[in-house]
Amino acid sequence: MPHCPIAPLPHMLPRGRQMRNGMSRRDFMASTAVAGLAAATEPLVAASYRERPVGAPGVRVQSNVRPVVVSSANGHRFRNGGTKTCIETAYEMMMRGDDVLDALIAGVNIVELDPAESSVGYGGLPNAEGVVQLDSSVMHGPKKRAGAVGAIEGVRTPSLVAKAVMESTDHHLIVGKDAGTFARNMGFTIEDDLNTDRSRKAWLEWKRRSDPVHYLDPNRKEAALREVMLSMVDDGLVDENHIYGTINCNGVNANGDICGVTTTSGLAWKIPGRVGDSPILGAGLYVDGTVGAAGSTGRGEANLFGLCSMLIVEEMRHGKHPKDAGLEACRRIQHNTIESRLLNDRGLPNFNVNFYVLNAKGDYAGVALYAPGAGSRFAVCDEKGPRLESIEPLLEGSSR
Ligand code: GLY
Repeated sequence: MPHCPIAPLPHMLPRGRQMRNGMSRRDFMASTAVAGLAAATEPLVAASYRERPVGAPGVRVQSNVRPVVVSSANGHRFRNGGTKTCIETAYEMMMRGDDVLDALIAGVNIVELDPAESSVGYGGLPNAEGVVQLDSSVMHGPKKRAGAVGAIEGVRTPSLVAKAVMESTDHHLIVGKDAGTFARNMGFTIEDDLNTDRSRKAWLEWKRRSDPVHYLDPNRKEAALREVMLSMVDDGLVDENHIYGTINCNGVNANGDICGVTTTSGLAWKIPGRVGDSPILGAGLYVDGTVGAAGSTGRGEANLFGLCSMLIVEEMRHGKHPKDAGLEACRRIQHNTIESRLLNDRGLPNFNVNFYVLNAKGDYAGVALYAPGAGSRFAVCDEKGPRLESIEPLLEGSSR
């Protein structure tokens, strides 16, 4: 287990160890309701919003806020051998008064560390040279602070390094080898290789299938690589959702504190050094502490072009519900997609992008260009417990 000096990993949390897998909904509600009630009955304090310790007991509780955590569906699937998922962990920590960003990061750490999740952290699908390079960003709404890392190697939990960038530097983004150096200087353990046997085998198979087309002209190469990728999906070697797979997780607590985190191994088999949308503020994640949060999974290039998470938050600022704001971003992506190599037989985008959105009241939505079969759900945790809900698609069918 890599050393992590910044914040305790989920499995290190004593309270987390007390919870059992398969906890009933009643137990879950009782455990989180007691914590929420405790926070709600604390006396008001006069500290200004900026000065008060965010998420600490004794802060004003806004009764019109419904605390909620939303994430991509992998936030309700992976447990890294433990008892709880990302959204369960984040919601429980949030409801017991922990800082919202700390809670969300503890949640996504479970996904980053789980070797079975091949699109995030340890065991994420590597780049074209077989090296796992990770991207992550974090945003803290109340503190109006942010941090991110791009193409970092050797650290299983890039979200914690992003948080270290936020807390320990004047910068918002550190990339490449120097992100690893920064992490080492902050006390993180740097590993030689974050591949698992599974991710390495998948890369070797991709190499075998794609080498002959590496040096074709760009248009033929694009089509050929897409064919290789789809053939590996069809052969069950790669999960279609893990090609651009990522986790974004956003939360708002009873105080109205809003935070978000996005973390990923990025596009499978990418050109080394390629950075996607995940660590770019406004693209893979955007949080405004007074408005809401949005983050993404899916084809980063399409999202980067329109800085869609920022667009969504701005749409909410002007009064749109999270669902309508998110669909506006999907429409923008469709509008910006005109190259034939990116269009399917129906003239529609041949890729998907998903957004996970919440506002300052706790209204939320999952939206996407498409919501086919396995990719049709997103994760939610609130007073009703953890669950998957349907994603609202802009377009019918799938990207194929
Ligand atoms: N959305 C993840 C990526 O494109 O890297």
